[in-house]
Amino acid sequence: MHRAAILPAVIDLRSDTVTKPTPAMREAMLRAEVGDDVFGEDPTVNALEERMASMFGHEAALFCSSGTQTNQIAINVHTRPGDEVLCEEGAHVYRYEGGGMMANSGCSVKHLPADRGRYTAPAVVAAINDRKAAYLANSRLVVIENSVNRGGGAIWDRGEAERIRSVCDANGMVLHLDGARLFNAMTVDGTAPKQWGTIFHSVSICLSKGLGAPVGSVLIGPNAFIHQARRVRKRFGGGMRQAGILAAAGLFALENNVARLKEDHQRAQRIGGAVRSMPWCEAVMPVDTNIVIYDLGLDHDASTHVARLKERGVLCFAIGPRQVRMVAHLGITDSDVDRTIDALQHAVS
Ligand SMILES: Cc1ncc(COP(=O)(O)O)c(C=O)c1O
Repeated sequence: MHRAAILPAVIDLRSDTVTKPTPAMREAMLRAEVGDDVFGEDPTVNALEERMASMFGHEAALFCSSGTQTNQIAINVHTRPGDEVLCEEGAHVYRYEGGGMMANSGCSVKHLPADRGRYTAPAVVAAINDRKAAYLANSRLVVIENSVNRGGGAIWDRGEAERIRSVCDANGMVLHLDGARLFNAMTVDGTAPKQWGTIFHSVSICLSKGLGAPVGSVLIGPNAFIHQARRVRKRFGGGMRQAGILAAAGLFALENNVARLKEDHQRAQRIGGAVRSMPWCEAVMPVDTNIVIYDLGLDHDASTHVARLKERGVLCFAIGPRQVRMVAHLGITDSDVDRTIDALQHAVS
């Protein structure tokens, strides 16, 4: 018997990383011209890198296998062992990259006080170690994440990012943007890639989240930075050969999957609104983009709640003892949202 015949379609809201390439994207991948990218000879990778660099107002770009890899390469190039990285406690670079900045680059970390992952320029100033004190780590790199994953997809204010850049300039520090979901943020506030790109010394953009490509992230920055990043990518084992097949999916995503992100945001809004009205719900973070994070009341347990939803064909993650995350993406339709809301009505834990 076919599995499909006995199982209802699953609504997978665990992450926007679960999207599968559409037939049209697969077609673009099939047609891609390829070459050896470690030799710089893959025309499709080169086209994607050139396009991303110019889109974000930088000189160069580097196609990598993942957002973790682009972030970790950037941290490695910007720092020396013993340097300190300033970021927020829930930042992906700190929390979900396998301890990479400590293991790969020998950096220590200082957490900045933040509101849903967004901190202020004065908070950065207050966190910088005294350069004269030889016993303190060298505060070197600041990382901003936009949108903020653990902050329920919260969006950064560009003015605050600019003020943080000024603080970095005044203190000999560098600023990296983890823009895994920057396109989601720009869809909401109407900002353009160059307006973000030029604030930062380096930018990481993921093609395999809301944009729907199967693999790939791009690191963007000045020529000298990307030259060194290319060496570090190779050292980390990330040099790819006929990667144009993957880059073609990225180019297709930039062409076809940016404008539709607003649909994901509308669907996330609907889910967030429904959760807010449930008797078991204690709080829902404001739904700014495609991520919904909510807290269950004191008597409830997130893993039981997630298991109940799973019984009804809805997948999501418990991200705390009473906290749950759902993410809308291009695989989710309006009727999936209807079914999710129905399942939520029966998901008392
Ligand atoms: C904010 C953020 N940065 C970076 C990454 C890493 O991306 P990847 O899964 O491609 O390594 C993620 C993944 O979910 C993320 O949410």
